[in-house]
This record gives sequence, C-alpha cells and structure tokens, in this order.
Amino acid sequence: MSKISQRVSTISPSMTLAMSAKAAELKAAGENVISFGVGEPDFITPAHIIQAAKDALDAGHTKYVAAAGLPALKKAVCKKFKQDNGLDYEPSQIIISNGAKHSIFNAVFATVDPGDEVIIPAPYWLTYPEVVKCCGGVPVYVYTTRQSGFKMTAAQLEEAVTPKTKMLIFNSPNNPTGAVYSEEEIRAIAAVCEKHDILVLADEIYEKLIYGGQKHFSIGTVSPKMKELTITVNGVSKSYAMTGWRLGYLAAAPEIAKAIASFQSHATSNVNTMTQYAAVAALEGPTGPMEEMVKAFAARRDRMMEMLDNMKPLGLDYVKPEGAFYVMLVCDKLYGKSFEGKVISGSMDMCEMLLAHAKVALTPGVCFGADDCVRLSYALSMEEMEEGLRRIEAFVKALK
Ligand SMILES: Cc1ncc(COP(=O)(O)O)c(C=O)c1O
Repeated sequence: MSKISQRVSTISPSMTLAMSAKAAELKAAGENVISFGVGEPDFITPAHIIQAAKDALDAGHTKYVAAAGLPALKKAVCKKFKQDNGLDYEPSQIIISNGAKHSIFNAVFATVDPGDEVIIPAPYWLTYPEVVKCCGGVPVYVYTTRQSGFKMTAAQLEEAVTPKTKMLIFNSPNNPTGAVYSEEEIRAIAAVCEKHDILVLADEIYEKLIYGGQKHFSIGTVSPKMKELTITVNGVSKSYAMTGWRLGYLAAAPEIAKAIASFQSHATSNVNTMTQYAAVAALEGPTGPMEEMVKAFAARRDRMMEMLDNMKPLGLDYVKPEGAFYVMLVCDKLYGKSFEGKVISGSMDMCEMLLAHAKVALTPGVCFGADDCVRLSYALSMEEMEEGLRRIEAFVKALK
C-alpha cells in the first residue's frame, strides 16, 4: 500500500522553484547568473509597514487572534474592496490567510468536490492545477492564443462548460502572460458564468501592477448574482513588496466564507499577528512608495519590450504585457536549432541551455501550459535586465 494519499500523489513539485534552485546553485558556486525567474518585487517593504509590525510587537500583540483574521484588518480589507473595486462586503465575509496561495487553496478546498471540473485558462499560474487536483477536482484547460493577447474569450469558455463545471479560475492581471482583461471582456465571461451557475475564483493579486491605459475591473462587480458566485482573492505580497510576510485575503458569499473560516480554524488558525498589524498599515498607509515601485516596473517593461523588439528578426516574439511583471517570450521558432550540437526541443531545453551557456535563468513555458514560450520576469534591476537580454541575444545568434 502506498504511504502517500492518492490526492497528494497526483501533485507535481513546483518547476519554477526547481529552476530557481538550479540558478541559486550556480550563483553559490561563484557564477555570474542573471535571474529572470523571480516572482517577487525586488523592493524592500516600505518603512512604515515594517514599523507597524515592530510597534505591534512592542505593544505586546503576540497572542492568538480570531482564526479568520484580526477585526481591524478585516475592516481595512472591506474598505479597500469598497474603494478600489466597488465591492461591498461585511467583515464576516473576509478571511485572512497565509498568502494569496493559501486563500486560493482554501477557496478550492471549500467548494470543489472530487470529480468537479475547474476551468483554467492557459497559460496559467502553475499552482492552480495542482491545488485543484489536490482537492480531487479535474482541471480543464482553455488554451488561449497570442492572437487574442493570451486572453480567453467568452465563446471559448462556453465551449469548455459541461454539467460537471464547478468553477472558473480567473487571473487578471495575469501571471505568466501579463494580460489584463478589459471590462467588456470580463462582462462577457461573467455572462457565461451566470448562465451556468459557475463559481469564479478571481485572483486579483497583481491588481495594482498595471501599466499603460488599462484599468483593473473586478468580475464580482458585474451583478449581484456575480458577486454571489465570485470569490475574490488578493493580498499584500506583490502590491506592497511583502512576499515574505505571508498574508493574503479573500471575500466570498456568506455561506462560503463561513465554511472557509471553519476549515481554517482547524488547519492553521490565524496568520501571524504582527503581520496582520503590518497589513493594516499597508492598506491604510501612504501609497507613495508603492507608486514609485509601479513606475520602476513600467520603465523596465518598456525597456524590455524595446530590446525584445530588436530581437524579433532572430525568431523571437512576445505579446505586449499590460500588467504584473512578466513577459512570455515566444521562442518556438528556435526549436530544432542547436547549440554545440545539442538540439533545442522545447522550453525546458531552452531554459537549461540558456542557464548553462548564457548564465541567465528563465522559467520554461511548459510549467504554465505553454511550451512554445519562456517566461521572463522584470522584477530585477534595469542594469541586470539589460545585461541578461544581451546574453540571450548572443546565445540565440550563436544557434545553428
Ligand atoms: C497569480 C498568482 N496568484 C497568487 C500568488 C501567491 O501570492 P502570495 O505570496 O500572496 O501567496 C502568486 C505568486 O506568485 C501569483 O503569481
């Protein structure tokens, strides 16, 4: 008899973490590796947020608090949803968890039964399918195209719906593509969900990281019915450079929030208390430092696109990213070419060879359901980014 449960044995380890580990190994061995694999802002948490955590400790806030979250933080989250997203929630509908990843797990675990289908537009953040599988659900992928800007259309969604469809996982701004859906596109998708009573897990973690003219639109605001169907997930990791603090949150219909609160009360209890005080300061404090961060990302995105445009004659392409801090570089025209006799047959080879020969770490698109691409993050300094892109260009030019 296997010691591992069937549920957990279906899960694959995170390939992005595996690539990062390889890059870190090379760096530790003294190699000058530039990493485009990073999934977190390269900024330090703003000082006023750090101070709030210190103040909480000094004030003796070192004990358990309510399992679903500190009342002051839930209130701050309600205010944020109202002001930024036009979503009206009661504090009892908010659950504070250990990162948005944990919120996503809770949301799926509380709603998806074995055999239920969960629709995931591809390319997708690699955690979604694993969470669904872990809960006994069946991931159903809807493959988007470069032509549609890596966005799923309402017609594609309609086609993927079956009597077993329970949920759609919807992520805008998107990791890994940087796609941001417009209000019109979201309304069309919502109409399909309303028609078939499909829950929507709206992962809005990159909400604040949008460049250019696009505006974030929350699918839960489409109608009262959509609000009932939507579980909106967000957190402080990306917007406030707080990845290591581990704090995410969700808002859901009362029945779902109550179920998640019960489950969390047994699984983890509350998120560590001083982090919750820090999150109140993040949500209610000055926005200046974060606006600076967004400006820096916007400048890097523009520079990256400029340099990638110059590489198009080499067979590389990309879809203009509107948000988050990632670009999917389409590189399948290079498959079949070789470097020192080794043929590139897919995105994993491409990344392994770039790491070995150009000392740049990228994430293979196969991790996200898109083997024709590799993902580049621009959460690294402008200088490193430029040097890394020059190395990629030199590698591609040397291919036979
Ligand atoms: C799309 C997406 N959702 C959620 C998360 C998780 O964020 P957190 O650090 O809050 O768990 C990430 C982190 O990479 C992400 O890319």
